[in-house]
Amino acid sequence: MPEKLIKDYSSPGRKGFSLPELDVPDTPVNEYIDDKMLRREEPGLPEVSEVDVVRHYTVLSKENYGVDSGIYPLGSCTMKYNPKVNEDIARLDKLVHLHPYQDVEQVQGSLEILYELKQFLAEISGMDEVSLQPASGAHGELTGMLIIKKFFEEKGEKRTRVIVPDSAHGTNPASASMAGYKVIEIPSNQEGMIDIEQLKENMDEEVAALMLTNPNTLGIFEKDIGEIADIVHQEGGLLYYDGANMNAIMGYVRPGDMNFDVLHFNLHKTFSTPHGGGGPGSGPVGVKSFLTPYLPKPKLKKGQDRYYWDSECPTSCGKLHAFYGNYGVILKAYAYIRALGGKGLKETTENAVLNANYMKTHLKEFYELPYEANSLHEFVLSGSRQKEQGASTLNIAKRLLDYEQYAPTIYFPLVVKEALMIEPTETENLSTLNRFVETMKIISREIEESPELVKNAPHNTPVRKLDEAKAARKPDLRW
Ligand SMILES: Cc1ncc(COP(=O)(O)O)c(C=O)c1O
Repeated sequence: MPEKLIKDYSSPGRKGFSLPELDVPDTPVNEYIDDKMLRREEPGLPEVSEVDVVRHYTVLSKENYGVDSGIYPLGSCTMKYNPKVNEDIARLDKLVHLHPYQDVEQVQGSLEILYELKQFLAEISGMDEVSLQPASGAHGELTGMLIIKKFFEEKGEKRTRVIVPDSAHGTNPASASMAGYKVIEIPSNQEGMIDIEQLKENMDEEVAALMLTNPNTLGIFEKDIGEIADIVHQEGGLLYYDGANMNAIMGYVRPGDMNFDVLHFNLHKTFSTPHGGGGPGSGPVGVKSFLTPYLPKPKLKKGQDRYYWDSECPTSCGKLHAFYGNYGVILKAYAYIRALGGKGLKETTENAVLNANYMKTHLKEFYELPYEANSLHEFVLSGSRQKEQGASTLNIAKRLLDYEQYAPTIYFPLVVKEALMIEPTETENLSTLNRFVETMKIISREIEESPELVKNAPHNTPVRKLDEAKAARKPDLRW
């Protein structure tokens, strides 16, 4: 039976607190607050005891699924389990109770953390300078695009277009467009990589940048990246790296060495904050030295013996976030990098790539693999064969929930029909991977034998199959 709402547990007079006897005069509230500001009626809050509250929310928490429950192979999102110690560090009293308006002299330790993190990220990516301001990957992309725009404005060049491959994450064209650029989409070739001829055809002196994820959203590394960079640079354009998938390359290759000029990170994917759910994120931006004058302001700098904010940045692209950026996420990333060190980060990459390839190898026998090229941290299967047998990719995703595992990303990237985009991440061990593979095999067998079973999934979850169209068109969001 579905859990009731907390208000349904309400019983008049029941309460979950007890206060000590008043030891001050009992003064009517309207002596402090103007009568006209006071509420006329009771707010109608549920009257419940402590045990009602604890049990209600415990039941709800058990109905939820998260990275603490099991595998969460949501491709492109890097939903990995992260060490809890990093959460503890992000909650240290001495860090969280600082006020952003405090004098910089009193927060030198905090600024040191930010400064060091900037240096770590520059080292990891091969960039010269980093800004921690942006609050998400997409926000980082927008910042990067504004930096590029400012650069060309200052040079007096009018460039109006940005090239984006069709396999790009949806935020890429959106960010370029928000920055005022016309987006040119170019198709991928048969291997799932950038079509060099298409790039050459579209590249001219009006193109400001090419935005690229490498490895791309199919998990495939653009092996011609050297040539791609040359084509763009020869026309005076810049190369933007979507660094959301750093767990595929850290310690092995650096975007800066691949000749990228600007990049963003997703600290909330790679560096210890799970992505998704609209929670807080952080999308720092890194640039090569010739672009540092255009970074967001104020810039954190190190003087002789103290850190300070420099607001004198006449060519900056502006301020993109208040205060220090999303400080909690930044702290977790700092703790994660310090704990793992260079060797640990490299091992993270190894495990992410190994896990994805292990799964791919075992699953391609049962599900179509549209692109055979070597993939890194994630891979894309197609449920086309199963669709013909009577159950779609959506049904497969729902059936996985019956087996108490989370589903991969579905129907993305758009270049693959009935796409299942799987990213096991580096934190899953062999038995978890095997369990997922086994379940996917069972589901493919179920579709062969009784597709209706899969079509009507989920059967065991607290909420059964939804009427998707009704949920989208007539969402019932009130009680
Ligand atoms: C490749 C890629 N680029 C950009 C983003 C956008 O990041 P955000 O969701 O933080 O805006 C994501 C998110 O998962 C991504 O996978």
